Amino acid sequence: MTALLALEHVTKSYSGVRAVDDVSLAVARHGITGLIGPNGSGKSTTIDCLSGFQALDRGRVVLDGVEITGWAPHRIARAGLIRTFQTVRVYDALSVLDNLKLAAQQAAPGGWLDALLRTRRHGAADRAAAARARELLALIGLARHEAVPAAILSYGQKKLLALAAALMPRPKLVVLDEPVAGVNPTRIREVETVIRQLHAAGETFLIVEHNVDFIMNLCDRVIVFDQGRTLMDGTPAEVRKDPRVLEAYLGAGA
Ligand SMILES: Nc1ncnc2c1ncn2[C@@H]1O[C@H](COP(=O)(O)OP(=O)(O)OP(=O)(O)O)[C@@H](O)[C@H]1O
Ligand SMILES: [Mg+2]
Repeated sequence: MTALLALEHVTKSYSGVRAVDDVSLAVARHGITGLIGPNGSGKSTTIDCLSGFQALDRGRVVLDGVEITGWAPHRIARAGLIRTFQTVRVYDALSVLDNLKLAAQQAAPGGWLDALLRTRRHGAADRAAAARARELLALIGLARHEAVPAAILSYGQKKLLALAAALMPRPKLVVLDEPVAGVNPTRIREVETVIRQLHAAGETFLIVEHNVDFIMNLCDRVIVFDQGRTLMDGTPAEVRKDPRVLEAYLGAGA
């Protein structure tokens, strides 16, 4: 089966520093792929490159058989690839519910302008979005907070809201940059359950995380970066016992 996402020889430098160095990788359709590696190893830059937030110096990105290299972020989102940010991004002034409705509109085929112009269709779309949003809020434990401005949520709650926002448009591929950083252990297990449920329903994930247990429990495949390159690519069991990974990242005690 062809990969849902493929990166071929992706290279990206920032003023002479090679953040991503000739990386080729594939994300299997309906899989949960983990991406781990030390601070500064190029994980977020890779996400920026595959989601259109940074231009590549070299290489190609192919989503579901279509080359998307050089596409703008909103176009990539509409093609079905939604990403979250390591530094959480939510609309503080909007309510929790409206954050999710907006996320649905931004990735809709016609976009927000189309939605505004076709008010009748907008009404139906709005009701569908509200229903989907409430479903997700229940899953992440924020149902009681739907009417409050996102500004008053805790950092961990904002992380969860950003996760729900990414899931709103039912993307083909969800790319998460540190989804559980700052989220408490009980809630992390719930996030794990949510991701498993969505995975069982056919969703594909690429997840960057420093929480190695979270990655190893959840992922069917793990890619390890070191200094902008792929150090290892295998099953969680293979990655755990690879001596290079132990040395570069997991440490002797892992
Ligand atoms: N916008 C930028 N401008 C300049 N340098 C950058 C920029 N973004 C990242 N870098 C540099 O690129 C390298 C890779 O950074 P990146 O953020 O991709 O690493 P990471 O693996 O996501 O790290 P972390 O685990 O700490 O989030 C680092 O040396 C970083 O300082
Ligand atoms: Mg990062």
